[in-house]
Amino acid sequence: MNSIIKLRHINKIYNEGKENSVFALKDLSFEAVKGDMIAICGTSGAGKSTLLNIIGCVDSPTDGKYYLEGEDISGASPKALAKLRNAKFGYIFQEYALINNRTVFDNVLIPLVFSKKYKYDTASRVKETLERLGIAKLRKSMVNELSGGQRQRVAIARALINEPDIILADEPTGALDSKTGTDIIECLKEVNDTGKTVLIVTHSERIASYCKKRINIEDGVLSAI
Ligand SMILES: Nc1ncnc2c1ncn2[C@@H]1O[C@H](COP(=O)(O)OP(=O)(O)OP(=O)(O)O)[C@@H](O)[C@H]1O
Ligand SMILES: [Mg+2]
Repeated sequence: MNSIIKLRHINKIYNEGKENSVFALKDLSFEAVKGDMIAICGTSGAGKSTLLNIIGCVDSPTDGKYYLEGEDISGASPKALAKLRNAKFGYIFQEYALINNRTVFDNVLIPLVFSKKYKYDTASRVKETLERLGIAKLRKSMVNELSGGQRQRVAIARALINEPDIILADEPTGALDSKTGTDIIECLKEVNDTGKTVLIVTHSERIASYCKKRINIEDGVLSAI
């Protein structure tokens, strides 16, 4: 099967050549096929977010190859990476990364402002996406008035609004109680059921058990389980 994401011999060194350099990823190779749902596990500082940032074109590796849908994007410029990021990925962060003093509607609309794909009918797109996530009633609420689970649903709606092929979630349930965490992972599973590729960083065995595959990172080195 063709890989949607293929990393080959990726190294990531922060502050290379300086006294405070960190060798965060070491000769890491990884592949995901379309429709995968993969848990990325490992202890704090292991390199999970670094890996997700490289996959999501938020950061570049120090060396190694990255093939996205078969295309070598290893040497892509920051501008080209930003374009790919917007077109291909939906990112969900642990701390939601929402704009707190704006409404739910505004937060979910934001990626469309930067998108070339959906220029028209943006309001109805936002409404549909909020309905899909069961938060249509909250559309006029300010984000800072919502519960953690509601905020995470807004973050998922924002990640889905551009219809990206790949959803990346960094500890999406880390700040939630276990019942709300279950709601959120089930929600991500539904997203996966629609054919999207979903990668989830998690510390939780229970959350990992919802995924079809699992990889483990320790000290920047990857092992499949
Ligand atoms: N921007 C940065 N500059 C320098 N070092 C960094 C930077 N980001 C991460 N690191 C270092 O790289 C290593 C991997 O960090 P990373 O954030 O990927 O870990 P993680 O597995 O996501 O940890 P956590 O579970 O705590 O979120 C750590 O040693 C961290 O201190
Ligand atoms: Mg992290």
